[in-house]
Amino acid sequence: MNQDQLKQLVGRAALDYVTPGQIVGVGTGSTVDCFIDALAASGIQVAGAVSSSERSTQRLQKHGIPVLDAAAVTGLTVYIDGADEIDGQGFMVKGGGAALTREKIVADLADKFVCIADASKLVATLGKFPLPVEIIPMAAAQLTRRFAKLGGTATLRAGVVTDNGGHILDVTGLSISDPLAFEAEINQWPGVVTVGVFARHKAQVCLLGGAEGVKTLTF
Ligand code: A5P
Repeated sequence: MNQDQLKQLVGRAALDYVTPGQIVGVGTGSTVDCFIDALAASGIQVAGAVSSSERSTQRLQKHGIPVLDAAAVTGLTVYIDGADEIDGQGFMVKGGGAALTREKIVADLADKFVCIADASKLVATLGKFPLPVEIIPMAAAQLTRRFAKLGGTATLRAGVVTDNGGHILDVTGLSISDPLAFEAEINQWPGVVTVGVFARHKAQVCLLGGAEGVKTLTF
């Protein structure tokens, strides 16, 4: 199976976590696109979705799935999203699609984060994938210096403005051995909107697609 087929496989597998009448939290990315398409094709009638991006909102609405304002819900049973990296404890790097801030907001509403990913996303230590950080533009130079002190090289993602009007720094050269401490530290830096380490909002379940099918990891 190629990577696209694995994404479709885990997108379909995530339907096991969706019940009729529920409001589902929906992430962003090519794997989530597969989940949205699978949900539409399944005939499961959800009450609606809380979406983490304009991209996912458009796809949900195209399928006739109602998109609800995050402010209109008090909580979600489940949030389904992809990841750029996930480790053996369910800690993740996210934001390759620049939607990390809204993803973290919707994840915060949910009781359970179900990560859907192909097996290439599973890593021993987070940091090989360039770490996305949404920032306030005027802080870019100072944040670049701060990351350099941690051994990281930060590059402004050219031409990208997030759904919130922020910019994205992609940071290479990091090895994130303590994701909880790292996330807490970076969150304190002035000008950081959201760091793409999802440690406090880690996955409880990962549906990992590989040559032998879908493996369910629980954390
Ligand atoms: C979006 O900002 C990201 O957090 C995505 O969830 C992540 O990049 C995974 O995307 P793919 O499913 O396209 O690999």
